[in-house]
Amino acid sequence: MQTTKRSVISEELRRRFARATRVLVLTGAGVLAESGVPTFRGGGNSDVWKGMPLDVISSARMLQSNLPAVWEWFDQKREFLENLKPNAAHRAFAEWEQCFGDFTLVTQNVDGLHQKAGSRDVVELHGSVWRARCITCHSRFEIFSNQRRAQECKACGDALRPDVVLFGEVLPPGVFERAAKQAEKCELCFAVGTSAQVYPAASLPEIAKAAGAYVCEINPEETPFSDLCDEVLTGKAGEVLPLFSQR
Ligand code: OAD
Repeated sequence: MQTTKRSVISEELRRRFARATRVLVLTGAGVLAESGVPTFRGGGNSDVWKGMPLDVISSARMLQSNLPAVWEWFDQKREFLENLKPNAAHRAFAEWEQCFGDFTLVTQNVDGLHQKAGSRDVVELHGSVWRARCITCHSRFEIFSNQRRAQECKACGDALRPDVVLFGEVLPPGVFERAAKQAEKCELCFAVGTSAQVYPAASLPEIAKAAGAYVCEINPEETPFSDLCDEVLTGKAGEVLPLFSQR
């Protein structure tokens, strides 16, 4: 099948959207763009903290050598994210969760905005800035915006780290496997606001496509994945997604 690139939703996609029960969405930094945050490859990657680039401060190596510095970076990141509001794209996915029998929202974002918009079950491939994890027993603890963050693990007393996948780390066990299983059985798959460059996340729409799903990309720009899609909706997530609930 040839990829259709357009800015309006095709009748074919509308028909599939109306009939589908098993739907998977993969989101990336582009979904956050309309809440006022630059994407990774649109400037966010060049973030510098106390003279250190992102891939140094937010890295496995820094975790080994200076855990307090890593926390300092994530504490200020949380403070920034706390003031952001979900946008129309986040709200659309929260609605979709209620509409489809088997809906899976997989995100590469660590900001918690999907949950803030009302999504209840989010597969967070790269973790969340709103959780801490014990470096020894791996127990996880929620971080509440209005409370002081815990310093030690309540289960074993050892140090806590941000529950985020840092540069130089692999994904926590089980999380990708859960997403891949859903990708294999979905009928309709959306890749929204991701440059489709970082694996294994980028393989999810590929898995869905190989298993026979209709795959749609929503992005203002082309990505390495565009030619593999059945349909590409060229535009901003917050503008395109609300069109699904209109005729
Ligand atoms: P990128 O910054 O690589 O890509 C963002 C994508 O969003 C680009 O393709 C943009 O064209 C698109 N975009 C921009 N504005 C948009 C809008 N309003 N609506 C829809 N799309 C828009 O971000 P990711 O693909 O999420 O990993 O990056 C993947 C991973 O790379 C991140 O999770 C991070 C990074 O290394 C970790 O931190 C582990």
